[in-house]
Amino acid sequence: MKNIAIFASGSGSNAENIFNYFENKADAGVVLMLTNNADAFVLERAKKLAIESVVFSSEQLKSGELVSLLKNKSIDFIVLAGFLLKIPENLIAAFPNKIINIHPALLPKYGGKGMYGDAVHKAVVANKEKESGITIHYVNEHYDEGAIIFQAKCTVSETDTYEDVAHKIHQLEYEHFPRVIERVLAP
Ligand code: GAR
Repeated sequence: MKNIAIFASGSGSNAENIFNYFENKADAGVVLMLTNNADAFVLERAKKLAIESVVFSSEQLKSGELVSLLKNKSIDFIVLAGFLLKIPENLIAAFPNKIINIHPALLPKYGGKGMYGDAVHKAVVANKEKESGITIHYVNEHYDEGAIIFQAKCTVSETDTYEDVAHKIHQLEYEHFPRVIERVLAP
Protein backbone atom coordinates (compact mmCIF):
# COMPACT_ATOMS: atom_id res chain seq x y z
CA MET A 1 0.00 0.00 0.00
CA LYS A 2 1.43 3.39 -1.07
CA ASN A 3 0.70 6.26 1.28
CA ILE A 4 -0.25 9.50 -0.47
CA ALA A 5 -0.05 12.96 1.15
CA ILE A 6 -1.87 15.87 -0.47
CA PHE A 7 -0.77 19.50 -0.13
CA ALA A 8 -3.49 22.12 -0.69
CA SER A 9 -3.70 25.83 0.14
CA GLY A 10 -7.38 26.51 -0.45
CA SER A 11 -10.67 24.77 -1.08
CA GLY A 12 -9.28 21.29 -1.56
CA SER A 13 -11.96 19.98 -3.92
CA ASN A 14 -9.29 18.04 -5.83
CA ALA A 15 -7.93 16.68 -2.55
CA GLU A 16 -11.38 15.37 -1.64
CA ASN A 17 -11.92 13.90 -5.11
CA ILE A 18 -8.56 12.10 -5.00
CA PHE A 19 -9.25 10.82 -1.49
CA ASN A 20 -12.60 9.39 -2.63
CA TYR A 21 -11.10 7.79 -5.72
CA PHE A 22 -8.53 5.85 -3.71
CA GLU A 23 -10.79 5.05 -0.77
CA ASN A 24 -11.49 1.47 -1.77
CA LYS A 25 -8.27 0.76 -3.63
CA ALA A 26 -5.84 -1.76 -2.22
CA ASP A 27 -2.61 -0.40 -3.72
CA ALA A 28 -2.68 3.23 -2.61
CA GLY A 29 -4.59 5.62 -0.39
CA VAL A 30 -4.60 9.21 0.82
CA VAL A 31 -3.48 9.21 4.45
CA LEU A 32 -2.64 12.85 5.11
CA MET A 33 -3.70 16.34 3.96
CA LEU A 34 -1.35 19.24 4.58
CA THR A 35 -1.79 22.97 4.22
CA ASN A 36 0.16 26.18 4.78
CA ASN A 37 -3.11 28.03 5.40
CA ALA A 38 -4.87 27.58 8.76
CA ASP A 39 -8.12 28.95 7.24
CA ALA A 40 -8.12 26.66 4.20
CA PHE A 41 -11.37 24.84 3.54
CA VAL A 42 -9.36 21.67 2.86
CA LEU A 43 -9.13 21.34 6.67
CA GLU A 44 -12.93 21.11 6.90
CA ARG A 45 -12.90 18.48 4.18
CA ALA A 46 -10.23 16.47 6.02
CA LYS A 47 -12.33 16.59 9.19
CA LYS A 48 -15.42 15.42 7.30
CA LEU A 49 -13.46 12.59 5.65
CA ALA A 50 -11.89 11.66 9.01
CA ILE A 51 -8.40 11.95 7.60
CA GLU A 52 -5.42 13.40 9.45
CA SER A 53 -4.44 16.96 8.56
CA VAL A 54 -1.43 19.12 9.33
CA VAL A 55 -1.00 22.91 9.16
CA PHE A 56 2.59 24.02 8.66
CA SER A 57 4.42 27.33 8.27
CA SER A 58 6.62 28.31 5.34
CA GLU A 59 9.56 28.20 7.80
CA GLN A 60 8.80 24.56 8.61
CA LEU A 61 8.61 23.85 4.90
CA LYS A 62 11.96 25.54 4.20
CA SER A 63 13.81 24.15 7.21
CA GLY A 64 13.24 20.50 6.37
CA GLU A 65 11.05 19.89 9.42
CA LEU A 66 8.31 18.75 7.07
CA VAL A 67 10.54 16.07 5.54
CA SER A 68 10.89 14.39 8.96
CA LEU A 69 7.15 14.57 9.52
CA LEU A 70 6.40 13.00 6.12
CA LYS A 71 9.00 10.26 6.64
CA ASN A 72 7.67 9.53 10.15
CA LYS A 73 4.23 9.04 8.65
CA SER A 74 5.65 6.70 5.97
CA ILE A 75 4.54 8.90 3.09
CA ASP A 76 5.54 7.47 -0.30
CA PHE A 77 4.10 10.02 -2.68
CA ILE A 78 3.15 13.72 -2.57
CA VAL A 79 0.40 15.34 -4.61
CA LEU A 80 0.15 19.12 -4.89
CA ALA A 81 -3.48 20.04 -5.53
CA GLY A 82 -3.88 23.81 -5.45
CA PHE A 83 -0.76 24.37 -3.34
CA LEU A 84 0.67 27.91 -3.40
CA LEU A 85 4.16 27.76 -1.96
CA LYS A 86 7.34 26.80 -3.75
CA ILE A 87 8.60 23.32 -2.86
CA PRO A 88 12.15 23.60 -1.43
CA GLU A 89 15.12 21.54 -2.61
CA ASN A 90 15.22 19.50 0.63
CA LEU A 91 11.73 18.13 -0.01
CA ILE A 92 12.43 17.41 -3.69
CA ALA A 93 15.66 15.61 -2.73
CA ALA A 94 13.85 13.53 -0.09
CA PHE A 95 11.10 12.51 -2.57
CA PRO A 96 12.81 12.25 -5.98
CA ASN A 97 10.22 11.88 -8.78
CA LYS A 98 7.63 11.36 -6.08
CA ILE A 99 6.02 14.81 -6.08
CA ILE A 100 3.52 15.83 -8.74
CA ASN A 101 1.49 18.98 -9.28
CA ILE A 102 -1.59 19.94 -11.23
CA HIS A 103 -1.67 23.26 -13.05
CA PRO A 104 -4.94 24.67 -14.43
CA ALA A 105 -3.58 25.60 -17.88
CA LEU A 106 -1.67 24.14 -20.78
CA LEU A 107 1.92 24.64 -19.63
CA PRO A 108 4.26 26.20 -20.64
CA LYS A 109 1.51 28.77 -21.21
CA TYR A 110 0.19 30.59 -18.13
CA GLY A 111 2.71 29.10 -15.72
CA GLY A 112 5.13 30.60 -13.19
CA LYS A 113 4.90 32.62 -10.02
CA GLY A 114 1.53 34.27 -9.35
CA MET A 115 -0.22 32.06 -11.89
CA TYR A 116 -2.61 30.34 -9.55
CA GLY A 117 -6.28 29.40 -9.75
CA ASP A 118 -8.52 32.19 -11.03
CA ALA A 119 -5.57 34.41 -12.03
CA VAL A 120 -4.82 31.80 -14.70
CA HIS A 121 -8.40 31.68 -15.99
CA LYS A 122 -8.68 35.50 -16.04
CA ALA A 123 -5.53 35.70 -18.15
CA VAL A 124 -6.82 33.00 -20.52
CA VAL A 125 -10.11 34.92 -21.03
CA ALA A 126 -8.34 38.31 -21.35
CA ASN A 127 -6.12 36.88 -24.10
CA LYS A 128 -9.14 35.46 -25.94
CA GLU A 129 -7.66 31.97 -26.00
CA LYS A 130 -9.70 29.40 -27.90
CA GLU A 131 -8.67 26.57 -25.60
CA SER A 132 -7.25 25.89 -22.15
CA GLY A 133 -6.68 22.75 -20.12
CA ILE A 134 -4.79 21.03 -17.35
CA THR A 135 -1.19 19.95 -16.95
CA ILE A 136 0.00 17.31 -14.51
CA HIS A 137 3.76 17.37 -14.05
CA TYR A 138 6.62 16.32 -11.81
CA VAL A 139 7.80 19.02 -9.42
CA ASN A 140 11.31 20.40 -9.64
CA GLU A 141 12.90 23.49 -8.09
CA HIS A 142 11.33 25.87 -10.64
CA TYR A 143 7.64 26.77 -10.61
CA ASP A 144 5.67 24.76 -13.18
CA GLU A 145 8.74 23.49 -15.05
CA GLY A 146 9.06 19.79 -14.16
CA ALA A 147 8.54 17.07 -16.78
CA ILE A 148 4.98 16.93 -18.07
CA ILE A 149 3.12 13.67 -17.42
CA PHE A 150 -0.31 14.47 -18.84
CA GLN A 151 -2.34 17.24 -20.46
CA ALA A 152 -6.03 17.50 -21.38
CA LYS A 153 -7.78 20.33 -23.22
CA CYS A 154 -11.12 22.10 -23.19
CA THR A 155 -12.51 24.74 -25.51
CA VAL A 156 -12.92 28.36 -24.42
CA SER A 157 -15.72 30.14 -26.25
CA GLU A 158 -15.96 33.89 -26.85
CA THR A 159 -18.72 34.21 -24.27
CA ASP A 160 -17.02 32.20 -21.51
CA THR A 161 -16.31 34.09 -18.30
CA TYR A 162 -13.33 33.14 -16.16
CA GLU A 163 -15.79 31.33 -13.87
CA ASP A 164 -16.96 29.23 -16.84
CA VAL A 165 -13.37 28.35 -17.66
CA ALA A 166 -12.66 27.52 -14.01
CA HIS A 167 -15.65 25.16 -14.01
CA LYS A 168 -14.50 23.37 -17.18
CA ILE A 169 -10.98 23.03 -15.80
CA HIS A 170 -12.20 21.61 -12.50
CA GLN A 171 -14.25 18.99 -14.37
CA LEU A 172 -11.11 17.95 -16.30
CA GLU A 173 -9.16 17.80 -13.05
CA TYR A 174 -11.72 15.62 -11.29
CA GLU A 175 -11.86 13.24 -14.24
CA HIS A 176 -8.14 12.83 -14.88
CA PHE A 177 -6.02 13.67 -11.83
CA PRO A 178 -6.81 10.56 -9.71
CA ARG A 179 -6.29 8.23 -12.68
CA VAL A 180 -2.98 9.84 -13.59
CA ILE A 181 -1.80 9.50 -9.98
CA GLU A 182 -2.78 5.83 -10.04
CA ARG A 183 -0.87 5.30 -13.28
CA VAL A 184 2.26 7.04 -11.98
CA LEU A 185 2.14 4.90 -8.82
CA ALA A 186 1.69 1.63 -10.68
CA PRO A 187 4.74 -0.63 -10.33
C1 GAR B 1 -7.03 23.78 -9.13
O1 GAR B 1 -7.71 24.24 -10.27
C2 GAR B 1 -5.54 23.62 -9.41
O2 GAR B 1 -5.27 23.23 -10.73
C3 GAR B 1 -5.02 25.01 -9.15
O3 GAR B 1 -5.72 25.45 -8.02
C4 GAR B 1 -7.04 24.88 -8.04
C5 GAR B 1 -7.34 24.34 -6.67
O4 GAR B 1 -8.69 23.94 -6.57
N1 GAR B 1 -3.58 25.00 -8.94
C6 GAR B 1 -2.80 26.02 -9.29
O5 GAR B 1 -3.22 27.04 -9.79
C7 GAR B 1 -1.32 25.78 -9.04
N2 GAR B 1 -0.52 26.78 -9.69
P1 GAR B 1 -9.19 23.04 -5.36
O6 GAR B 1 -8.58 23.62 -4.08
O7 GAR B 1 -10.67 23.15 -5.38
O8 GAR B 1 -8.69 21.65 -5.60
